[in-house]
Amino acid sequence: MSETGRHEDVPEETLPGERETAHEGAVTTAENPFADPGLPPHEHRAQDIDDRAARRSERTVALLFVVSMIATVAFIASYVAIPIERNVYIWPLGHISALNFALGLTLGAALFCIGAGAVHWARTLMSDEEVADERHPIEAAPEVKAKVMADFAQGAKESQVGRRKLIRNTMFGALALVPLSGVVLLRDLGPLPGNKLRTTNWKKGVRLVNQSTNLPLRPEDIAVGSLTFAKPEGLEEDDEEFAEKIAKDALMLVRIQPQNIKDKHELSWSHEGIVAYSKICTHVGCPISLYEQQTHHVLCPCHQSTFDLSDGGRVIFGPAGHALPQLHITEKDGFLEAASGFEEPVGPSFWERG
Ligand code: FES
Repeated sequence: MSETGRHEDVPEETLPGERETAHEGAVTTAENPFADPGLPPHEHRAQDIDDRAARRSERTVALLFVVSMIATVAFIASYVAIPIERNVYIWPLGHISALNFALGLTLGAALFCIGAGAVHWARTLMSDEEVADERHPIEAAPEVKAKVMADFAQGAKESQVGRRKLIRNTMFGALALVPLSGVVLLRDLGPLPGNKLRTTNWKKGVRLVNQSTNLPLRPEDIAVGSLTFAKPEGLEEDDEEFAEKIAKDALMLVRIQPQNIKDKHELSWSHEGIVAYSKICTHVGCPISLYEQQTHHVLCPCHQSTFDLSDGGRVIFGPAGHALPQLHITEKDGFLEAASGFEEPVGPSFWERG
């Protein structure tokens, strides 16, 4: 740095105080290198001086807003018309969901066109003159409020909202239609589950199949002290809805000495001491997997709810709200089968469970 505070490496012509200015308020004193250089002279755009250019810009902006409206309508039409399971090949993405692709494309186009229209409007038609404003106290004095209102009116006038009715109307149309995209997505909240939460694939006569071996279970397959998992006969892993169905149908079987079964109702629904309970925790639906054979307690690994399988599946510890549902089982032709379906909904509580 020199004695005057000027950096030796900076070319003199780039220093603010020495730059040529065409602005009336600019300070051009070579003595003060920190002087306000002022604003550069305003250059009029083609749209400022040529009415045809302004109308061209107006039509471009309106076109973008109209494209946005069309894209929003296309978004809604795609949502209604394209099946969720349809896939399309899109290079370079490969095979993707046609519905997701169409929704993304149309919503993206709708939002992009609103943004592009607003930017083009601001860059070509709204006033682009730079103005300097002095700092003033934060307190909003009456005259300040009056000035704000006047500035607002002036801004509205300069933005030509009132005069350019085509832009204004198409912009309102585009902005009014875009939220519809969100409204139609509310449809995904439905349909209501109906009685789906209350029913499973268990019903009278359905055999119990070992979930590991895929073979129908016989009473002699269930040893004292073991925990066996079962599914209804006919439910195969390559079934498209297997995951959804097994989340309700999963069953666990234990054999308890009949004299150790405390609950009389449970005893009457068992077969030779074999009891079958839903494997789905009644707290928030984790699969139960830990069995303590001495106490006949099963433990849910998620939040440690503990159920007593010798006492009607009663909750003895943890956050679960109600006992595990029991399946009434019997034996026919040497195989275990359901004597009826579950008499209450399996899994976590829900609002109208009762
Ligand atoms: S899901 Fe079983 S205790 Fe929470």
